[in-house]
Amino acid sequence: MSRSRKNEIYGRTVSWSTRSDISPLRYPGGKRKLAPFIADLMERSRLAPDLFVEPFAGGAAVAISLLECGRVRSIGLADADPLVAGFWQVVFSDQATVFADMVSSAEVTLEEWKRIKLSEPALGLETAYKCLFLNRTSFSGALMAHTGPIGGMSQQGAYKIDCRFNRSQLAARILELSHLRNRIAFVRCESYSDTIQHVRDNHGDTSVLWYLDPPFFAKADRLYRHSFKNSDHEALAAAVESMPGNWILSYDDHPDARRMYAGHPGFARINLQYSARIDDASRLVASEVVVSDLIASLRAAGEIQEAGIVIQLFRRRKPGAITVLQDIAVEPKMRQQA
Ligand SMILES: C[S@@+](CC[C@H](N)C(=O)[O-])C[C@H]1O[C@@H](n2cnc3c(N)ncnc32)[C@H](O)[C@@H]1O
Repeated sequence: MSRSRKNEIYGRTVSWSTRSDISPLRYPGGKRKLAPFIADLMERSRLAPDLFVEPFAGGAAVAISLLECGRVRSIGLADADPLVAGFWQVVFSDQATVFADMVSSAEVTLEEWKRIKLSEPALGLETAYKCLFLNRTSFSGALMAHTGPIGGMSQQGAYKIDCRFNRSQLAARILELSHLRNRIAFVRCESYSDTIQHVRDNHGDTSVLWYLDPPFFAKADRLYRHSFKNSDHEALAAAVESMPGNWILSYDDHPDARRMYAGHPGFARINLQYSARIDDASRLVASEVVVSDLIASLRAAGEIQEAGIVIQLFRRRKPGAITVLQDIAVEPKMRQQA
């Protein structure tokens, strides 16, 4: 390979956090791995927003990654689920130390799981504790009423209820996150449309980037206590067109997501690979649908590939940075096979 070609490929380094425990919550469908893609998109768009908002926060791993590595100045989080919003409110409050103490001395037993499952906490601290406890001790991290404990009610399997509850690590991470408190613009418990209104009313003069990761098209009602009907997906598609700021929307690569957004100029199907070999056709399938006004603008300016599956190939570097080695647009022929 010639030197100039090599330089072209080994072009950009985007900072982000590579650690796997960005969020204390194990979130079903968590989008941590999308953070370097978003950092790269921001860099190509020369965007350094004052405020990055995740109105479907869940584990909030994308917002926290970008905040911790300094790519955004502040973040705003919201979730319609009071347990999830309550968790983040406490982590980023002056109660975080007490909360971390509760976590480091947690009694992680089946009896405690049953008690907490039935509890209806009124206090912020107990709400946060219920969220974290059930998330770390229940199947798939789901908070649904019907979701059982890891290891089942008999606790006979190889994995027991406490296998994902590392008290000291979780407590340490909560304390670490709490130090970001003065860069948290808000944590709200509400539907995304209220968050849009809140930002319009209170952050009108700020440059805002939205990252929207709504519940999936399929099976979301089994994973989240608040899911979307088809009409909700359609309402969101209409809402993004008049967002106060730039926006990035992601879905798992599902036929309904493609049907709804394939005609949008900012539509892309992507696959993120980490230093993996890409000569195997079975790897060339999209895993995410991403739609963004930033992609639309870059495409209009001829700076981003035409539609197709974009495989973005990364190499991990020292913690806090990752190199985008290459973007590869898969041919339409390959796309159909995929
Ligand atoms: C796909 S998950 C988000 C996962 C998150 N991006 C992560 O990486 O962990 C969707 C989240 O949206 C929340 N949600 C569902 N309906 C909502 C609504 N109308 N407004 C705001 N949040 C909602 C759910 O409670 C769930 O936490």
